[in-house]
Amino acid sequence: MQDFNGKTAFITGGASGIGLGLAEAFLAVGMNVVLADIEAAALAAAQHTLERFDNRVTTVVCDTARRKAVIDARDRAIATYGRVHVLCNNAGVGGGGMVDQVAPAAWNWVLGVNLMGVIQGLTEFIPHMKAHGEPCHIVNTASMAGMNGVAGMGPYCASKFAVVSLSETLAGELAATNIGVSVLCPGWVATRIGESRRNAPGDLPPPPLPGPMMAARAAEVGKLIADGMSAAEVAARVMQAIRDDDLYIFTHLDMRPSVDTRFARIGAAFDKAAAFKMPA
Ligand SMILES: NC(=O)c1ccc[n+]([C@@H]2O[C@H](COP(=O)([O-])OP(=O)(O)OC[C@H]3O[C@@H](n4cnc5c(N)ncnc54)[C@H](O)[C@@H]3O)[C@@H](O)[C@H]2O)c1
Repeated sequence: MQDFNGKTAFITGGASGIGLGLAEAFLAVGMNVVLADIEAAALAAAQHTLERFDNRVTTVVCDTARRKAVIDARDRAIATYGRVHVLCNNAGVGGGGMVDQVAPAAWNWVLGVNLMGVIQGLTEFIPHMKAHGEPCHIVNTASMAGMNGVAGMGPYCASKFAVVSLSETLAGELAATNIGVSVLCPGWVATRIGESRRNAPGDLPPPPLPGPMMAARAAEVGKLIADGMSAAEVAARVMQAIRDDDLYIFTHLDMRPSVDTRFARIGAAFDKAAAFKMPA
């Protein structure tokens, strides 16, 4: 996709962090944006932050884990701007814990937002994009947690691996169309992701108390996020990827060794499989 002026982007989780950074980047190149977010107050604040962009910002309260809410938000976007050209399935929540200790409700929350939210966005917007036929692009926000399993982050990693896989699948399925697909895999970004529980369902049980090792890790992660890349830089990299029609968007070079190590282990497992001899 090369022409942005006058086109429309729909951004889930658009009221904060990376989503808000994407909105600013799209507005700067003349697009209209629809911010779909579960937090009404944050949407109002975002609308205020973006008021310099005339009337090119629409906000809609939407819980992406609920299909009907996504359909309503999509219909609002189409009613307001006619056509949607860029879809950013970006809303996400951080939720962790050791796999055997995470409550079923916490699995449902994290997978509901991070995976089903993305699936809902795809199923409700792709037919619209195919029908209007203009160049389009889909950006699914995964994470470096979609490239490596991390102890203590089971639900989050499972959801993000799934988003990477969905994006790869989709790129193949849409190859013959003019809808591009990117999957965004950032490392630490300075946002409110560490406060994700502010948007959790009211009946979500508190997480199990972390042992000393996990508590120390949580403090370390808090600092890594606070010192992380700016959402504006992430958004600039996304803009470049949309223009270049890149499938993968990586932002944190220091995390490459962990991916290389994973592929080396997979390669070694194939070597071992090649040497396998059926016991007589
Ligand atoms: N910040 C990081 O270090 C980092 C790293 C890798 C990936 N990510 C991913 O980036 C995406 C954006 O997160 P962020 O870091 O900007 O955090 P953030 O908390 O600042 O923003 C997330 C936004 O999503 C919204 N949201 C939460 N649940 C929702 C729901 N059910 N429906 C609609 N909106 C909902 C929140 O209200 C918020 O506005 C997420 O998918 C996250 O997993 C973040």
